[in-house]
Amino acid sequence: MADQPLPNVIDLTPLNPDFNDDPHRFLDRLRSTCPAHRDEMAGTFILTRYTNVRAILSDTTMWRHPSHAEPAATMSRREMVDGITAAPDEADKSILFLDDPDHARIRTPLAKALYKRVSRSRAQIQGVIDEKLDALAGRTQFDAMDDFALLVPIDVIARILGVDNARLSEFRAWSEGAILSLNPFRTPEQTDRMVTSINAISGYFRELMAQRRISPQDDLISDMVQLQAEGAPLSDGELSNNLQGLLIGGNLTTTDLIGNAVWLLLTHPDQLTRLKADPSLINSAIEEVLRYESPVDVTARIASRELAVEGCPIHTTQAMTLSLRGANRDPEVFAEPHRFDIARKDAPHVAFGGGAHLCIGSPLARLEAQLAIASLIARFPNLHLADPQAKPQWRNLPFFRGLKTLPVVTG
Ligand code: HEM
Repeated sequence: MADQPLPNVIDLTPLNPDFNDDPHRFLDRLRSTCPAHRDEMAGTFILTRYTNVRAILSDTTMWRHPSHAEPAATMSRREMVDGITAAPDEADKSILFLDDPDHARIRTPLAKALYKRVSRSRAQIQGVIDEKLDALAGRTQFDAMDDFALLVPIDVIARILGVDNARLSEFRAWSEGAILSLNPFRTPEQTDRMVTSINAISGYFRELMAQRRISPQDDLISDMVQLQAEGAPLSDGELSNNLQGLLIGGNLTTTDLIGNAVWLLLTHPDQLTRLKADPSLINSAIEEVLRYESPVDVTARIASRELAVEGCPIHTTQAMTLSLRGANRDPEVFAEPHRFDIARKDAPHVAFGGGAHLCIGSPLARLEAQLAIASLIARFPNLHLADPQAKPQWRNLPFFRGLKTLPVVTG
């Protein structure tokens, strides 16, 4: 591989089957030979060293909005999805892509309301998990993805937001369509499905916002319209778009965290035994899953001033692709980075990004995964893989890492 050209961004996606099989063959090579590698085709620098990734994430003066990127930054500029929504006042309002002052204006009240709800939602989340596990009672075999990991996050976020139970299945279908927005290489048919789904969710959220103004309930939508009424400077479009953001950003990623945790524990029986012997390790076990098999590959920033990374000049308006997966296996920071160790005490991982854009859902994702895995192990203490020899079936969505299916046996 030494004489082959260095990988570009496309080589770091499932469009390259070898990457899916072993991403670290590519990321280790990039980190050790060219940790600030320019991909001319995508118009971005790929950064793979922990120190550089962490420094750029923490630098809150860097830009996120794709419109700041130079025309050559084709991948960043494709993130602009203006016009996909029927409601023009929602276009381009997601905090994921905004810079200050708009980012802070929208994120601050949303984070305040969400964190408060999450801190009170433990029993509600446990209830959802128990319901899914009860449905598996008596089964000798099931798919840990379809029958468990996929079901929990969508129900949890629906309940936190305040979605009617009667509309849950529609909500699930829209959410699957909306998640296609995360795939920059989607087909025209997938774009159509995505637009239809996003428009449907948007209409539904507007309906709920109007209802909650008249009759508030114990849910996040009521909290947000209340904050708006008290003067939080948020338009209806901004609110609707960012409530959808919670749905889109939180479902698949948390499903993958739970699925990756089941997979890693079942393929590392020594670590599973350790966790069973000391259940207080659950929090550090989930952190290790986030580090070792990060559900999200990359995030992005745009240089807001002249930079030099590893001696490589990065000019204002040039785009940077920050490899969270690469940073999380950097041997300069993590001793034996390719060893899965649920009691690891090295530096914190960057699976949730960082700085101003640090994942707003990270407390929720952590709590869901900790409760889901602890409960699954307690309910099925003899759980094991249905076919220990089978190759893992990773999904094909670029920049996300999760399993398509994970057949397990209970006895
Ligand atoms: C294991 C699960 C999750 C992972 C790995 C994950 C990962 C990430 C990453 C890498 C970012 C970008 C951070 C950056 O650029 O610095 C992000 C942002 C975001 N995430 Fe998550 N996420 C997860 C769960 C969730 C959940 C449960 C929600 C919602 C309830 C959520 C909502 C968001 C939102 C709205 C943003 C944009 C924040 C901003 O730009 O200010 N995520 N997430």
